[in-house]
Amino acid sequence: MAEKIFLKDYRSPAFAIKSVELSYDIYESETIVCNQMVLQRLTEGEDLVLDGHDFELQSFKLNGQDLELSHHEKTEEQFRIVSDILPEEFTIDIQTRLEPHKNKSYEGLYQSGEVLVTQNEAQGFRKITYFLDRPDVLTLFKTRVSADMKRFPVLLANGNLIEQGQEGERHFVVWEDPFKKPSYLHAIVAGDLGCIEDEFVTASGRKVDLKIYATKGLEPRCLFAMDALKLSMKWDEECYGREYDLDIYMIVAVDNFNAGAMENKGLNIFNSSCILADSQTATDDDYQKILAVIAHEYFHNWTGNRVTLRDWFQLSLKEGLTVFRDQEFSADHLSRGVQRIADVNALRTRQFAEDAGPTAHPVRPESVISVDNFFTTTIYEKGAELIRMLQALVGRDGFRKGMDLYFERHDGQAVTTDDFVKSMEDANLKDFSQFRRWYSQAGTPAVKVQTNYDSLAKTYSLQIQQSCQSTPGQEKKEVFHIPFKVALLNSKGEEMPLQLRGERLNSRVTERTLDLRSEEQTFVFEDVIERPCPSLLREFSAPVKLEMDYSEEDLSFLMSHETDSFNRWEACQKSSIQKVLEAIQHESPVSFLEKNTEQYVKGFAGIFRDFDADHSLTALLLELPSESYISQFVQTINVDSIHLAHEFLYRRVAETYHGNLVEMFHALDKDNGEYKTDSASMGRRALRNQCLRLLCLSADEEFINRAWEQLKNPSNMTDEVAALSILTQRNAESRDAAADVFYKRWKHDSLVINKLLRTISMAPHADTLELVRSYMKKEVFDIDNPNNVYALLMGFGGLNPTQFHRESGEGYEFMADQILDIDRRNPHVGAYLASTFNHWKRFDENRKGLMHKQLKRVIGSGPLSRNSYEIISKNLDI
Ligand code: TRP
Ligand code: ZN
Repeated sequence: MAEKIFLKDYRSPAFAIKSVELSYDIYESETIVCNQMVLQRLTEGEDLVLDGHDFELQSFKLNGQDLELSHHEKTEEQFRIVSDILPEEFTIDIQTRLEPHKNKSYEGLYQSGEVLVTQNEAQGFRKITYFLDRPDVLTLFKTRVSADMKRFPVLLANGNLIEQGQEGERHFVVWEDPFKKPSYLHAIVAGDLGCIEDEFVTASGRKVDLKIYATKGLEPRCLFAMDALKLSMKWDEECYGREYDLDIYMIVAVDNFNAGAMENKGLNIFNSSCILADSQTATDDDYQKILAVIAHEYFHNWTGNRVTLRDWFQLSLKEGLTVFRDQEFSADHLSRGVQRIADVNALRTRQFAEDAGPTAHPVRPESVISVDNFFTTTIYEKGAELIRMLQALVGRDGFRKGMDLYFERHDGQAVTTDDFVKSMEDANLKDFSQFRRWYSQAGTPAVKVQTNYDSLAKTYSLQIQQSCQSTPGQEKKEVFHIPFKVALLNSKGEEMPLQLRGERLNSRVTERTLDLRSEEQTFVFEDVIERPCPSLLREFSAPVKLEMDYSEEDLSFLMSHETDSFNRWEACQKSSIQKVLEAIQHESPVSFLEKNTEQYVKGFAGIFRDFDADHSLTALLLELPSESYISQFVQTINVDSIHLAHEFLYRRVAETYHGNLVEMFHALDKDNGEYKTDSASMGRRALRNQCLRLLCLSADEEFINRAWEQLKNPSNMTDEVAALSILTQRNAESRDAAADVFYKRWKHDSLVINKLLRTISMAPHADTLELVRSYMKKEVFDIDNPNNVYALLMGFGGLNPTQFHRESGEGYEFMADQILDIDRRNPHVGAYLASTFNHWKRFDENRKGLMHKQLKRVIGSGPLSRNSYEIISKNLDI
């Protein structure tokens, strides 16, 4: 069916577009788009092939003339003009007619609520007009928009407003963007929107107007986003010397949006879930997401817009780098250790799973069917890890030098990930040829460590082996260059001086990054006066699986004494994973655990001793690894026994430390006053609610009543959702009563209702599928709203192992029905749902058979989008 495109087939464009003037005439049920371009030939003898589909073509003129039949050819997705008739330079005039209110793919021009907006990344612009719709064709855009003044008082496009006027009931605006850009960064907005305004003065003293637009009446919910924007602008100046370059920066929030947000030049368009917040409707997690997404889109102005992509295979050039930048921004504004834990946790649960499945691909992929499918956790999150490793390899100052050189060389260009690595190399006189394999090889390397302490010689050695499993199309992997950060802890938990054999003495160093560059390497440390406990892969210095046989005693030691926050959390994770893996080998995991958790539970004692240090860290230390992460470590996934063991351990910890939890809860509860969004206040709420969760797990009536009280009279949404989730998890009756309270209070607010949809879809109760179905019929659920679908259906398919994988196969059949229904209108969302089947081969024969049957049914049920076809065909090895 659908054809593959290959990186190796890249050819530079045969034509340049010197300028483009677009005009959008908006009417109630149609929009007429006129596109006037000046083109220039770059390569002799090539036809002009423009991309375009899904609109009505009303006229097409070359230098003002209609084209003869023999001189052009129109196919389903392209318009070709034969080379012979094209002069060196020429103009093209195209008129198209669109029906945005019918466009449910949310690509190109579409209607969200009463607002018209565009989403052109990756290939949405070709749904508006014919164009050279590829990122390496950079053009100057001038955009005119006209519409009814009452219905669409706000008309926006990229750049600066240079003209506006009135024509009877209608008005028009003309915007001009002084920076060349590819079509995927073009945007317009038309609607009746509310707005908050502010300004920012750049380091060099230029004033920039800042505007955030949202549904009228919700302006107060935009204030936090505005603060986040100003912080981002300041941070990019301070950390990277990058200033904003236009006179105005606009953000528009809309309700129907496929992703989080889009970095269109000077005119970001956001999913309203990534903008709107106040204490009553948004949780601390929402606030953190808003901070990160605002920063992310803002940072794209330099990493993505000023320097853009040569082709879509290079997507990680902007996304990996920009995720890295937003992660660092959040780390600087919240808690660095906790930020790292959250980022690694997301990477390992999602990206490691992707790398181990049928859709595994390198950070710079080699082929693709649908460019939309490039927006993966591998391109984004693993891509960010590659940048982080580069920074570790050249140091912070070296990294800044490399970034400066990158901007100096490539401002205004469309480049490749290789150009980025080259800048880092040249600025630091390094050779990253081996490191580049991270870009071309998929899969998660494993690093296996064996240790040996020689008490006579006082030496300690680390013998390190690396390997990497094969991935589709890549049987054998070449050796990676892995920065491996280590320390050695003495029995008091202090970092010991590190003296590597063969190196000059510098006894002050207690932490260092080892360069792993061969399949097997041994590092010997000298003058090690006692047997140390190794602290390995500190800060998760590389995206690898560390294989190290820690004893239960070592792990409990690390849980209390690790000096690296990430590794302290990791010790907690490891000890829980090891325990679950041990338990599920037994016929009855629970009766095994009844007798074998003493040492495991003891490990947590140290956490309660210094819980005051960083509350958000403590809250995370008390959280067990998710069932889906644990399932990465087993051969055949048995969702039910993993679930039982996981529940048992949680409850054991809660019961054992009941007294500590009560004490901690009360201490934190005392200051649970005014709602603030600083890192300390968020940490306090997180830990208090974590205590409450554990206390309810141990079935303490007093605290179950507290949870009810907290749900019924909440002081903020963070506490409200925490109570909802605790009560929902307890049992089906408790869930129904809690859901009822929440539903009645919030059924008018779609953003808030998503929290309920997600909570009920994730709970492990036996009637969840029926409940999900019933929620789909409620008024609050709109199948054309991606946020609703992600909350309810991805919550069920992605975060509810026992119920989605119900033995009867009903969960699979249900999901297949949803894919078939949604994919016809919205391929982006359809393909995302299709990914819930990605790990079907790792289940037992029965479930495998049932999932296979549904995959076959979906692919056999008639035309699928390219996006979903690609995901499902990879699952079926087609
Ligand atoms: N470039 C956007 C970002 O990461 C991602 C994005 C926005 C997107 N809208 C999309 C990806 C639609 C795929 C489809 O900041
Ligand atoms: Zn991005």
